[in-house]
Amino acid sequence: MTSKVIPSIVIRNKKMIMRLEIKKMSSIIDSDLLLTVRPLGTSLGAEVRGIDFSKPLTTVTLEQIQLAWTKYLVLRFRGMPTLSADDLITFSKNFGKLDARPIGSSDKNPYFDVDKPEITIISNVVVAGKPIGGLGAYEAVWHSDMTYVDLPPKASCLYAIEIPPTGGNTYFVNMYEAYDSLPTDLKNRLTSLSCVHDASRNSAGELRKGFADINDPTKTVGAVHPLVRVHPVSKKPCLFLGRRRGAFVSGLTLVESEALLNELWAHATAPRFMWSQEWEIGDLVMWDNRCAMHRREAFDPTTRRLMLRTQISGEPVLQG
Ligand code: OGA
Ligand code: MN
Repeated sequence: MTSKVIPSIVIRNKKMIMRLEIKKMSSIIDSDLLLTVRPLGTSLGAEVRGIDFSKPLTTVTLEQIQLAWTKYLVLRFRGMPTLSADDLITFSKNFGKLDARPIGSSDKNPYFDVDKPEITIISNVVVAGKPIGGLGAYEAVWHSDMTYVDLPPKASCLYAIEIPPTGGNTYFVNMYEAYDSLPTDLKNRLTSLSCVHDASRNSAGELRKGFADINDPTKTVGAVHPLVRVHPVSKKPCLFLGRRRGAFVSGLTLVESEALLNELWAHATAPRFMWSQEWEIGDLVMWDNRCAMHRREAFDPTTRRLMLRTQISGEPVLQG
């Protein structure tokens, strides 16, 4: 495949890779393989090409992926229609320990023979009256994954097996840029504030098993995290909002909390911080859940969408 938009630059050894970082070039090639990184959005998102998924990744390749991931937050690997669930698990494990399926996702699956605790199925497909996966065909509103627990995952990987003819695209926003562009007085105010992240509903708005339907944000059940976190790898601060529903900023009145959160959410989800992934079959997308949020647009429920997903375990949230 060739890159039409941004020309690729060929680099053939490790010294050159160092120089490449200094010159901030957009493409990387090491001595082992042809690996290119092409930015996709203005704020975040890049496509990585040239990885042979049939072999274990070399240390050099992994370092390059890690560098690109730190810089672009969301990476897309395109054109791999034959990856198996095991391939996705093997790839994902390069970046850390994997979480088991989150609560409420499909357990045993009659349609697609995946019986592995690391794999979650995201799908609207219904077989014998039972959904084979999570999130249906609804919109999944802006969120970061599972921020309602104390150690939210650091990343998720989503692999497209079937996609609808239209809709079902996934949008991402860059939470470093959202933070950096806030007025200084607001940044200062946020440093001492924390927010509760609602555990009761998923991003498609469905009540999770075992949770009460609470509509008063001052009573929300879920983990409490700083509104500004420091990314453990980049060491940079970013906004950490998680999800809007049920959010409440500790120590404020409900009116103050709603006003502050409305302002932060309107700011963070502005188009200038955004990039949308328009899926093709065989796309594998890996997002950094610490510094990016995502949403999935709705699609026609009479069409099919089938994704496999893994989730990489997180680390303590560092106060910004
Ligand atoms: C998820 C998610 C979005 C999508 O799996 O966490 O939000 O595009 N998925 O399916
Ligand atoms: Mn999600």
